[in-house]
Amino acid sequence: MDRPVELLALAVSVARSASDLARRMRADGVAAVATKSTATDVVTAADRAVERHVRERLHEARPGDAVLGEEYGGERDRAPVRWILDPIDGTVNYLYDLPQYAVSLAAEVDGVVVAGVVRNAATGREWTATRGGGAFAGDRRLAVSGETDLAQALVGTGFGYAAQRRLHQARVLAGLIGHIRDIRRFGAASIDLCMVAEGTLDAYYEKGLNPWDHAAGGLVAAEAGALVTGLDGAPPGPDMVIAAPPGLHPALHDRLSELDAAGGP
Ligand code: IPD
Repeated sequence: MDRPVELLALAVSVARSASDLARRMRADGVAAVATKSTATDVVTAADRAVERHVRERLHEARPGDAVLGEEYGGERDRAPVRWILDPIDGTVNYLYDLPQYAVSLAAEVDGVVVAGVVRNAATGREWTATRGGGAFAGDRRLAVSGETDLAQALVGTGFGYAAQRRLHQARVLAGLIGHIRDIRRFGAASIDLCMVAEGTLDAYYEKGLNPWDHAAGGLVAAEAGALVTGLDGAPPGPDMVIAAPPGLHPALHDRLSELDAAGGP
């Protein structure tokens, strides 16, 4: 069955065992085993082991499904259900033992994300959502903050790994920071989106995210009442992801648009 609640139940079960594996491997010590796009974009043995674990469990339970994962990729095949996985979102935090890294797993049916779980593997905090069924942290239904004044908003963001992109992102931030309460950079996009869902951040934006960074967290934020978009009518994607309550989104969006936040390298 491809019902969102059933897909979510499997996602939660798999995310929990994957988180346990990540935490155990962290306790045994972590080192970068390779780099990807730049010298600071690292992969640990745990990123790979956790992704293999999730793939195996999904394959056992649902052999016909497709999987797109950060470390091993995945083709766009014709399977109606595709899982989108970040085995460890917040890899740099993981490397430094900062307790803000997550297993992020979403289920897409016919190209639409219908279920998602983000589990902070360090703390055990877990956020879930199904499309149309709301967003939850445990039994608690989540709702975004009521903030409507950009000048009062606590805004999360993140930075890519390439120097030129980071410079552009820093210029955008310089143009924004005088117009908001303050900025936070926690280092795991999936958790940032869940923080918008629960109102511990008023809003979040970032350029350069991959589907595995925002598929599950984006659904959690949207189901908690956030508008999750790109810039200037675009859907959320690599150019921009903005998540903010409806009363705050227009002001943040317009400021980011003026600053050409989706532009640059
Ligand atoms: C990164 C984190 C970070 C964000 C980067 C992502 P990774 O994912 O989500 O917060 O700023 O854009 O690439 O590499 O740790 O899986």
